[in-house]
Amino acid sequence: MDSIDCAKQKIRAAIAVSRVPEDPHHADNTLEWLLRLEPDVGEALQLAALAHDLDRAVEEVKVRRADFDDYDAFKAAHARHGAELLRPILTACGVARDMVDEACRLVEVHEVGGDPDADLLKDADSISYFDVNLPLYYEREGWAESKRRSLWGYQRLSARARNIVAKISHEEEVLARLLREVISESVR
Ligand SMILES: [Fe+2]
Repeated sequence: MDSIDCAKQKIRAAIAVSRVPEDPHHADNTLEWLLRLEPDVGEALQLAALAHDLDRAVEEVKVRRADFDDYDAFKAAHARHGAELLRPILTACGVARDMVDEACRLVEVHEVGGDPDADLLKDADSISYFDVNLPLYYEREGWAESKRRSLWGYQRLSARARNIVAKISHEEEVLARLLREVISESVR
């Protein structure tokens, strides 16, 4: 097995045990959306897409929302911690040092973007939230928190990604309504 396959397998295994039920599907779905947005992306970005929420999977050490007053500060700590968890996994698989550095850098900025690859990852992640996370998030968190989270996620999308999210349809009427409200209430 080559080092990239080894890394993907270890990342998937780590995320498979997450107590957040949407996490395993979201990891692969983010990678799928990334490849739909840009089929020719490099391996570092693909590894980052799969691993970006690694922090959430490790229950004993994960960054907790309740420890932060500010949602963006929480998300920044979550991203930084994910990168810290990813580095030893990639290194153990023998991934080249510059690819390790780049994948970890991308995980660290996945919530904010800032360069073309980081922006692609941010879009793929956010599209995937609306695609596969929202139903489970809503079930657990209810209307008000899901709407806040969705508004936050929608605001950070590129125009292209907003068009994609607008075409996502959920069978459950309450989710379709939530998405409609989020789109109409978001500032352009
Ligand atoms: Fe994510």
